[in-house]
This record gives sequence, structure tokens and C-alpha cells, in this order.
Amino acid sequence: MGKGRTTTVFFCQNCGYESSKWMGQCPGCRQWNTLVEETVPAASKGANGMNRTKASARQEPSSLSAIAMQEEERVSTHIQELDRVLGGGIVPGSLMLVGGDPGIGKSTLLLQVCRHLSDDGRKVLYISGEESLKQIKLRAVRLGEFTDHLLLLCETNLGSIEEIILQQKPEAVVIDSIQTMYHDAVSAAPGSVSQVREATGVLLRLAKSMGVSVFIVGHVTKEGTVAGPRVLEHMVDTVLYFEGDRHASYRILRGVKNRFGSTNEIGVFEMRQDGLAEVANASEFMLSGRPRDASGSVVVCSMEGTRPILLEIQALVCKSSFGIPKRQATGTDFNRVNLLMAVLEKRVGLPLSNCDAYVNIAGGIRMTEPAIDLGIAMAVVSSFRNKPVEEKLIVFGEIGLSGEVRSVSMAEQRIAEAAKLGFTSCILPKSAEEMLHNSGGMVKGIEIKGVSSVQEAIRLI
Ligand code: TYD
Ligand code: MG
Repeated sequence: MGKGRTTTVFFCQNCGYESSKWMGQCPGCRQWNTLVEETVPAASKGANGMNRTKASARQEPSSLSAIAMQEEERVSTHIQELDRVLGGGIVPGSLMLVGGDPGIGKSTLLLQVCRHLSDDGRKVLYISGEESLKQIKLRAVRLGEFTDHLLLLCETNLGSIEEIILQQKPEAVVIDSIQTMYHDAVSAAPGSVSQVREATGVLLRLAKSMGVSVFIVGHVTKEGTVAGPRVLEHMVDTVLYFEGDRHASYRILRGVKNRFGSTNEIGVFEMRQDGLAEVANASEFMLSGRPRDASGSVVVCSMEGTRPILLEIQALVCKSSFGIPKRQATGTDFNRVNLLMAVLEKRVGLPLSNCDAYVNIAGGIRMTEPAIDLGIAMAVVSSFRNKPVEEKLIVFGEIGLSGEVRSVSMAEQRIAEAAKLGFTSCILPKSAEEMLHNSGGMVKGIEIKGVSSVQEAIRLI
């Protein structure tokens, strides 16, 4: 550790904000009590393993045309939901972060990825700092057969891990989890911001120099005692978050950053006895258990990246027994719901200001696309009047402050998805309807009703 000169800095364990003095609230992410003192070597203050590459070979600048490139190569994980979120498969040499709450299924997913990769004859190394080899085996047995191309290792010292990777030369490595790893050069405890950054820096260097694809597991921690995955988001190529209600069986894998593909893609999985199963038809899954003839239930179609997904919006509006009405939104933006209710009150004249209102997206999924506005408004109206809407109707459109219904993108895909699931009518923005007419994108078997204002839409239901 050189001359051993160290300085102390305070790092926010949530977002990685760095400060020379302690503060109660992090100016970066506005969380309280997340700044923790860490000692770092004086020279590398705020630095990470990436800096070391500087000294090695000096690079000459080159023009774009001079850069040789083969047809972009992607390695399929044979899990289509994951491949899509990654933008078509794993890019060799990329660093991928898989974040999520503890127990959500990150280890399970990555062990399944390892299984598929090793089935293809690729050498894969799964490094766990959390479970013993026996525990991993217990889990693996539930997932199915594994070939000998998968190697397991229980290790938390990055120096040793680096050596083993250099010696074994695997094609893919899983680090489970980054918060358990430590590097000798940093004196802070494993899980601290400086350790997590240093560890990621080392892995980044390995990934880029050897072309090995690295998956990093990062736990999301609410307490801020361990550095969260946000601290290293900027260092990796791809950030995936695994989310879902722990009590429900489905899980959603969301891409939030991707240097090799679009973000906003989601993958839907179901946690079963034998691991995670792909849910190819997410809409059907989300709509299962929908009540019949219940007021306040409306189906919308939201786009997640390139993928349409049908969701049920539920609203419950009832007379408030207190002076201040209670409003609650689950699965969508609370302020947006309030705004839509204000529009309904002012532009349509519904007396909602003395009503309690609860809006929920069924299934525990989170959706904030503006296209679901019209669905939320229709669900509120349906519940307020206590009249169910037609069962085979889907609704989408953005609502503006004057009550106008504004166009949304990819109307054709949304309608096609609804038709596929047996919906027979659709309320959508007038402008989207016109666009469909012009482009000849009409979908058979579904009646299209274009509206230009909320009032018009209400008249139709
Ligand atoms: P895990 O992958 O260990 O979560 P993480 O690595 O994100 O902390 O998932 C653990 C949960 O998944 C645990 O509650 C048990 C459940 N599970 C199943 O339901 N089926 C299975 O086949 C496996 C392996 C786990
Ligand atoms: Mg785990």
C-alpha cells in the first residue's frame, strides 16, 4: 500500500456522493444518514481501478474508418426475455450489473444463465461471496442438469479472483455479489463505496482486456449500510434491475442503461419451484384474475420499449368521511393521479374533491407511461358512477390539462396486442386513429373509437 498515506472522505452509500465532511443529508440523492466515513489512499482519492490502465500501453488516436470491426457478435443466453433486455444477447467483454432487492432471484437468474452458456460449451465461472459451494449446488440441483463447463468458486478477495480469471480464461464470469468483494489495496470494509468502486474497476479492466463478459450482482439496500448498485451504475455497460413484489410470483427485469441496445425493455419471469420461467405472454399473465362486471376496472395498453403490455387499472372512488379526501396510487405516479382527478373535476364537472380515491395497477407492476392517463381517468369515472365498463374494451391516450386526449406512439402495436387477447373495441386518441387510417394500419376484429377529449371518451363508456 505504498507509503500508506491515507485521507478520510465521506461517501453516500446510496449514490456514491463524495464529501470531505459529514452531512446529515446527502446533497446528491437527498437521502438521510447515508454518508459514511471511509479511508482511501491519498493518491487515488475518488479513483478506481480504471486509472491503472493509463500507465500501461499508450494508445494512438485513430479515425473511425480505421477501426476494424466484425459483424457485431452477440452471445445468446437462451433466455429470450433476458436477451431482449440486453439488446439481443451478451456483448462479449461487457460489464453488466444486475441489481435488485435481496431474495428477488438474482442468483437464480444468473445461475440459469450460466447453465445455458455452459450447455453451449462455453466456459463459465460463477464466483459467490455469499453462499457456500454446497448451497449453490442445492440451488443448482433444483434448476436442472449442469455440464462441467461451469466452474464454481467461493471467494471474496479480488486479487485471487483476478488471478483465477487470468489463469482459467472463462468466457463469462458472474460475481455474486459485488458488496461481498474486497480488494487489498483499499482498507475500507467490503460493501463500502470505495471497495465497491475499486472492485468494479478491477472487473472492468479484466472485461475489457480479456473480452470476458462479467455479470455483477448488486443488492439494493434501503438502510444505506452497504453501498447500493447506483454507486457503480456509471462504470458498467448495462444496468438491469430485477424487481417485483416478493409475495407475487412474477418478476420483472428492467433495463435502465444499455450501451449496446435500447433501455426501457422489460423481461417478465415467473418464480417457480424449479427456478425462473419466462413469461412470453405478459399481457395474459397480468390480466389473469381480472374481475367481471366490476366498476372501476379498465384495461390499458402500455408500451415497455418495443413491447406492448396490457394492464388492468383499478380505481375505487367513494365519499370521503373526513374533511381532507384521501388519495392513494399504487403502481403509478401519485401526482399524475391527482392531476387527472383535477382535470375530471374542472373539465368534466365531476365532484371529486370530496371523494376518497384509490388507484391501483393490478398485479403489483409499476407503470408511469402517459398513455395510461385515459385508462386511469376512465377507471375513476367508472368507479364514481359505479358502472362497469364494457369487458372487451381497451383504452389508451395521454390527457392534457385542458382535458384534451393527445396522441401516443405505436398505436398499431397496442391495438394488435389487444386484438390478440380477444379485445373487441378500443378508445384511443383521434389523431392516432387518423394516423392508422392513413398508414392502412387498421387491425381486423377490433372496433376503433377515436376521441379528442376526455368528455368524448366518457360519453363512449
Ligand atoms: P435468490 O436468487 O437467492 O435471490 P437473490 O440472489 O436476488 O438474493 O432467490 C431466492 C428466492 O427465490 C428464495 O426466496 C427462494 C426462491 N426460489 C424459488 O422459489 N424457486 C427456485 O427454484 C429457487 C432456486 C429459488
Ligand atoms: Mg443471491
